Amino acid sequence: MKTEYRTLDPARLAAVLERERARYVQSNSRSSALAQQASAHLMFGVPLHWMSDWSMPFPLHVDQAKGAHVTDVDGHTYMDFCLGDTGAMFGHSPEPVARALAAQATRGLTVMLPSEDGVWVARELARRFGLPVWQFALSASDANRFAIRWARALTGHRQILIFNGCYHGTVDDVFVDLVDGKANTRNSLLGQVVDITQTTRSVEFNDLAALESALADGQVACLLAEPVMTNIGMVLPDPGFWDAAQALCRRYGTLLLIDETHTISSGPGGYTQAHGLQPDLLVLGKPVAGGLPCAVYGFSADTAARAEAAKRQAPPGHSGIGTTLTANLLAMAAMRANLAEVMTDAAYAHMFGLAEQLALGLGQVIERHNLPWCVTRIGARTEFQFTPTPPRNGTQADAILDAALEKNIHLYLLNRGLLITPFHNMMLVCPSTTPADVDRLVSAFASFVEEVVRP
Ligand SMILES: Cc1ncc(COP(=O)(O)O)c(C=O)c1O
Repeated sequence: MKTEYRTLDPARLAAVLERERARYVQSNSRSSALAQQASAHLMFGVPLHWMSDWSMPFPLHVDQAKGAHVTDVDGHTYMDFCLGDTGAMFGHSPEPVARALAAQATRGLTVMLPSEDGVWVARELARRFGLPVWQFALSASDANRFAIRWARALTGHRQILIFNGCYHGTVDDVFVDLVDGKANTRNSLLGQVVDITQTTRSVEFNDLAALESALADGQVACLLAEPVMTNIGMVLPDPGFWDAAQALCRRYGTLLLIDETHTISSGPGGYTQAHGLQPDLLVLGKPVAGGLPCAVYGFSADTAARAEAAKRQAPPGHSGIGTTLTANLLAMAAMRANLAEVMTDAAYAHMFGLAEQLALGLGQVIERHNLPWCVTRIGARTEFQFTPTPPRNGTQADAILDAALEKNIHLYLLNRGLLITPFHNMMLVCPSTTPADVDRLVSAFASFVEEVVRP
């Protein structure tokens, strides 16, 4: 019979952190010098302010990234299990994408007109995802924003619904948190002047009764959701949840907008195809063009017909949808090569095997040390969570986040040549990751635990 769970020793954690910070500082002199120079002209010393929020004492500056590896400016090579937080899910600079980019580079980059690649790509997306009509964007954030606009335009409803704790990019509409059961506009948003709760409703994931009451007045244009929540730690749907949720959306005239940007780890047609979901709208960004900025969104036949009618009936002028560089020639060429030659069934089969090995290995470490932690996996995406039983909703998932412990582990791994995703405990494997790489990650994780667990 199991004894009580073991806990981590705060004194050991502090000592490990101090040692690892010193080790990082000592072995990254070139990154340190660049960080110092950067502080003169880059806000927070980085091109995007949250790049300074990783676990390192100062940002690691990258020299290059190829396949499953990242090399920094001090010459260290890392096994990359972050993979650009999914942007490089199929490896850095995949050969077919690099070739397509080189070929397109001298043939025009952007013209604001369609090319043959777009025709091929849309046909392939229709085959993979079962939705017949597609549009493009430059990021998943944009694609979500545009899909929401279409949903509002074609249903004539102002309200949207999201799950508490979700993240769909920098889409203002989704930053509504449930605080003691009440919807609040997220207080960390900069420059947010609109009360988002006026037009966005929020319920807990896996709560069908709450979902029904949020939909019941028939005023909700769309439910925007990841099929598995991935951004507050992973939250899996209860068995039967999506069948029932889809039926509720249909009953109350709400479009189901599925964001597959992270759950594309589930297979070549995303979680949607792997689990038989039938969304009205579907968004996919990040890895779809092999790491080049690009995103896609698809419509069911009925939704597309209603969207086209809404556009035709609207007064002439800007729709609020699209950007100048959207569907540029370079991105379309990259996407075609990526879908045809990189994001293949064979690549997924390889990645699934490795992710299974990783989940098993981490699970064994947790079990061996009797820690109150668990491992969650969807396809090629694996995560360890600081709870013995996986969370069922955003509130539970939020309650188990431990940023200090996360950063401690991440820095420990980084100093041993292993990169995992910041702000999560999420790990991805790519087509060129090997079983030996996974073993290295598992044993470094084990040695961290051995150093910090209470004897
Ligand atoms: C589910 C989901 N959708 C959309 C996005 C936004 O992607 P991007 O930052 O590329 O716009 C993210 C980013 O993490 C995401 O996790």
